[in-house]
Amino acid sequence: MTEQSTGRLNGQVAWISGGASGIGEATVRLFAAEGAAVVIADVTDGQSLANEVNAAGGKAAYSHCDVSNNGSVAQSIEAAVAQFGSLNIVVNNAGIVHVGPLHEYSEADWDRLMGVNVKGIFFSLKHALPHLRRNPRSYMVNVGSISSHVGQRLTPAYTTSKGAVLSLSQSIALDYAATGLRCNCVCPGITDTPMLRHHLNMTANPEETLRQRVRRVPINRALQPDEVARAILYLSCEDSAGVNGTSMIIDGGYLAAAEWDTINDDTTWGENA
Ligand SMILES: NC(=O)c1ccc[n+]([C@@H]2O[C@H](COP(=O)([O-])OP(=O)(O)OC[C@H]3O[C@@H](n4cnc5c(N)ncnc54)[C@H](O)[C@@H]3O)[C@@H](O)[C@H]2O)c1
Repeated sequence: MTEQSTGRLNGQVAWISGGASGIGEATVRLFAAEGAAVVIADVTDGQSLANEVNAAGGKAAYSHCDVSNNGSVAQSIEAAVAQFGSLNIVVNNAGIVHVGPLHEYSEADWDRLMGVNVKGIFFSLKHALPHLRRNPRSYMVNVGSISSHVGQRLTPAYTTSKGAVLSLSQSIALDYAATGLRCNCVCPGITDTPMLRHHLNMTANPEETLRQRVRRVPINRALQPDEVARAILYLSCEDSAGVNGTSMIIDGGYLAAAEWDTINDDTTWGENA
């Protein structure tokens, strides 16, 4: 627990896929600081993050999990319940990108991306539901993207998958509300994570590429993972009571703009109006 903690997740148990890096890591840290016991479900080793959280007085465990594998998700969720006694919150954050024009995809490229970004949510719902429904209230937050709402160039499977994340979140919200489960989707814009840095590093001048990309963002910067994690927290507790089946866009204004270059450097306009 940190000094700023409100303890709003005291007694809760959260399973967070892709929790070892980026937005997932920020969510793990924030949830643990807010009092939850957190399971980091990831193909990347999250043991050192779990150790760090535990050393700071929080509760965390790493569970090796490939969200595209039914048995792996089942095992990870059962291990979470065995270790912490219950399950209240599922955050489906694990995601991958494949860059290229659609005609150059192999069938395996398409299936791999859909397996992680979409099928993983199906598996987590399937295996978590028996535990979630034991609580009067439970929460699922799925991480979509601005591309849940608009297309993006050269990532056809990714944009398709993120559209599906939103649709699936809405379906889950309808079908399981009676069990006490609320399901929502967060849609981040350009966020400074290892995933973003990996793609920037494939360009000749990563910092210049980032500078150009954020000209499309009215706040003129990439989001920080913690800013997305705070939205996930809001949707994972009773602060958001009544919110169900929605998509919360955290994009610095990206989707509000029709202009390509949105930065208004002139802050003097209107002073004499
Ligand atoms: N960074 C951005 O600009 C941005 C924008 C919109 C949406 N998103 C979404 O946010 C989520 C997190 O992305 P990030 O930027 O933090 O990326 P990241 O690459 O830093 O972290 C993703 C994590 O998912 C894990 N993962 C990948 N495949 C997995 C699998 N099969 N099973 C379990 N874990 C797996 C990775 O090991 C990694 O730890 C993703 O769903 C991504 O699509 C990111």
